[in-house]
Amino acid sequence: MRVLLTGSSGWLGSALAPRLRHLGHEVIGLDPVPSAETQVVGSIADRDLVLRTVSENGIEAIIHSGALHKPDIERYQNTDFIVTNVQGTLNLLDAAVASGVQRFVFTSTTSLMISQAIRDGFKGGARKAAWLTEEMSPEPRNIYGVSKLSAEHLCRLHHLQHGLPVVVLRTARFFPEADDLAYAIEQSDANTKANELLFRRLTVEDAAEAHVAALEKAPSLGFDIFIISAPTPFRPDDCAELIADAPAVVARCFPDYPRLYARKGWTMFSSIDRVYDPSRARERLGFVCKTGFADVLRALEAEA
Ligand SMILES: NC(=O)c1ccc[n+]([C@@H]2O[C@H](COP(=O)([O-])OP(=O)(O)OC[C@H]3O[C@@H](n4cnc5c(N)ncnc54)[C@H](O)[C@@H]3O)[C@@H](O)[C@H]2O)c1
Repeated sequence: MRVLLTGSSGWLGSALAPRLRHLGHEVIGLDPVPSAETQVVGSIADRDLVLRTVSENGIEAIIHSGALHKPDIERYQNTDFIVTNVQGTLNLLDAAVASGVQRFVFTSTTSLMISQAIRDGFKGGARKAAWLTEEMSPEPRNIYGVSKLSAEHLCRLHHLQHGLPVVVLRTARFFPEADDLAYAIEQSDANTKANELLFRRLTVEDAAEAHVAALEKAPSLGFDIFIISAPTPFRPDDCAELIADAPAVVARCFPDYPRLYARKGWTMFSSIDRVYDPSRARERLGFVCKTGFADVLRALEAEA
């Protein structure tokens, strides 16, 4: 397929473009930042460029990952988020409809599901962790989340009005840099990321693979939204104990973890305030992340 990939110079784009090519797709990358994966240097906010690029290249599918994202909040104005993430998405959806594109995959974020109340609950003594599924009604707490949720609504509207098949992937974190000091384990970023694989993280390779699955399934799904995160060992019944004593829950799920962590000098978060449940993606998209917490433990065991 001839696939337009936005955000092709970014962290996800750089992993996804080669993967798509390996599968035999022809990838046209669009990004304002030049890179080896980017053939069209420009912005999705440039409506004429987007319409032209989609029609002139005979694009059959669009994977829309280009965006201003959470770390950009400190550098950009609210209006920049609306122009890039909302108007930019609308331009791509309109171009898809105008050119008869039959598959559209939108990279969204689990971040939009975290309301101020959920955030405050963690700091202020929530009694149980939030169990987050696609059923909840998001109330994003920042412009990033608001712009991504607005873009999701535009996707839904284009499916409704034009029958455009769209799959929205609310991906959990896969960025390499450290973030969220409330959780971070100061001594070890690897320790933090390992812990996060239990409830709020995936590898960039798995993020890329989820887009491949969505590309394949879009026509049969019509419209759907999926949380994409490493499989969680937790259950809704664990939510109270996750706040009170997360290490006890993890030890119940993985009896070897205390020994392996102790040997490495790692620690578990004392409290976990949310769990992203990726089971809908397993059931309807047929997608499960390859790498999870069990793999970390296997690697720690092998280090001996
Ligand atoms: N990294 C994460 O942990 C994470 C988590 C959830 C969702 N996401 C989403 O995944 C997608 C990719 O994120 P990433 O981590 O690769 O970020 P990134 O910043 O590395 O990549 C984003 C890319 O989008 C490009 N971009 C910015 N403005 C653009 C515009 N106007 N037109 C076209 N492209 C533009 C940037 O130049 C960049 O190359 C984003 O949509 C992001 O919101 C990321």
